[in-house]
Amino acid sequence: MSTELKKALYNISALADLGQEITSENAFHEKIQAVFYVITGTFLANKGAILSYDRSSKKLDTLTKKGFTSTDLEQLAPEELMPLSKNEPCLIKDAPFLAVVGAEVLVPLWVRDQFIGALLLGGKLTAGPYTPEDLELLKIIATQIAITLNHHSLFMDLSDKLEENQRLYEEMRRIYHGTLQAFAAAIDAKDAYTQNHSHRVAKYSAAIARELGWNDHDIEGIYVAGYLHDVGKLAISNDLLNKVAPFTPEERAEIRKHSTLSHNIAVKINFPWKNVEDMVWHHHERLDGQGYPDALVREGISDGVRIITLADSFDAMTSQRPYRKKMDVQTALAELRKCLDSQFDNKIMLVLCRVLDKEIKGELPEPEILPNLDKNSDLSIISSLLEGIIVELSATQSPA
Ligand SMILES: [Fe+2]
Ligand SMILES: [Fe+2]
Repeated sequence: MSTELKKALYNISALADLGQEITSENAFHEKIQAVFYVITGTFLANKGAILSYDRSSKKLDTLTKKGFTSTDLEQLAPEELMPLSKNEPCLIKDAPFLAVVGAEVLVPLWVRDQFIGALLLGGKLTAGPYTPEDLELLKIIATQIAITLNHHSLFMDLSDKLEENQRLYEEMRRIYHGTLQAFAAAIDAKDAYTQNHSHRVAKYSAAIARELGWNDHDIEGIYVAGYLHDVGKLAISNDLLNKVAPFTPEERAEIRKHSTLSHNIAVKINFPWKNVEDMVWHHHERLDGQGYPDALVREGISDGVRIITLADSFDAMTSQRPYRKKMDVQTALAELRKCLDSQFDNKIMLVLCRVLDKEIKGELPEPEILPNLDKNSDLSIISSLLEGIIVELSATQSPA
C-alpha cells in the first residue's frame, strides 16, 4: 500500500471517529472532550485547546485543553483571531503571536458570519512539521467543530430564552391569580354571609376535577371559573344581596341575573382556558331543566358546569346564610343526595364524596375541602356516610 493511500485511509478513519463523537448523544462537554482526544491523537499534537467565543462578554472560554496553561491561553485576544482566514489553519508564519502562546497551529472557527471560537494545537510529538495534508484534514475537522459549538450556543441561547419566558409566564400567572383573588374578595365582601365562598368553590371544584383525572391546565381553568362564578353579583345591590326576608318575584329575578352578568364579565377576558365563560354562566342550571338562565337539560350541561354547581351548593349549605344556619356536613350530604338526578349529577356527587372521604382518611397530600368544614364535625360518622353513598352511587355508574 502506498504512503499516500495509507495516509488517506488514516485520515478517513480519523474523520469517521470524529463524526461518531460529534453525532453522539453525549452531553456537550463530553462530546467536545472526545473530539479533542481524536484530534490530538490524529495529529500526535503535544498540546491542544478548544476555545469558544462568548459574544456577551467578548472573551474566549477554554472548553478543553492539554499542555497549555491558562496564562498561555489568556494571551489570545479574540480581535487578533477574527481578521485571520475563516476556518483556515494558520501557522506561526501567518500569525506570529502563536509563538508567544507556544502554539504551532490555530484555526479560527466560524459559522457563516459568526466567530465561534478557535482550535489550537502545539507541535507534533514526532517533531515533524504539519504537512499540507494535515492542514487540509484540520480544515475539515475545524468546520465540524465550529458547527457543533454553534449548535450548542444556539441551544444555550434558546434555553436562556425559554427560562426567561417561563419566569415571565410564572410572574404573569401570579399577577393573574392575584387579580382573580382581588375580584373574588370584592364579590364576597358585598355579602357578609358569603365570605370566602368564591375561594372555597374554586378549591372544591379543582379538587373534584383533579379526582376526575382532568389535566393541570383544565384544573386551573375550573379553579378560575370557581373564583368568578358569582362575579356578576358585583352589579347587584348590596341591600338585595344581604336581604333576610323572602324575596318578591322581581327581587328573585334581579338576583338571578347574576349568572348572566358573570358571563358578560368573563367573556370580555381572553382566558387561556376554554369553557370558563360557560361554567360561570350556567352554574345555576339543573339537570331537569328547572334551572336558570337558559333552563338547559342534561346533555346541554357540561361536566365543568356540573362540578361548579355541586361545589357551589355544597359550600352554600355548609356555610352560614342570612336566611338559615349552616348545615352540618351529614345534613348537607343528605340534601345533595335528595337532589341527585334532578339538580345534581350522580357521577360528580360520587367524586365529591370520594375526595372528601380520601381527605378524612389522610390519603390526599393537600386537603382542599376538609379544612373548611366545621371543626366540630364527627369525622368517623361522615366517613361511614360517605362510604355508603360511594357504594350506592358506584353501582349506578356504567363501567368505564
Ligand atoms: Fe351563583
Ligand atoms: Fe355561588
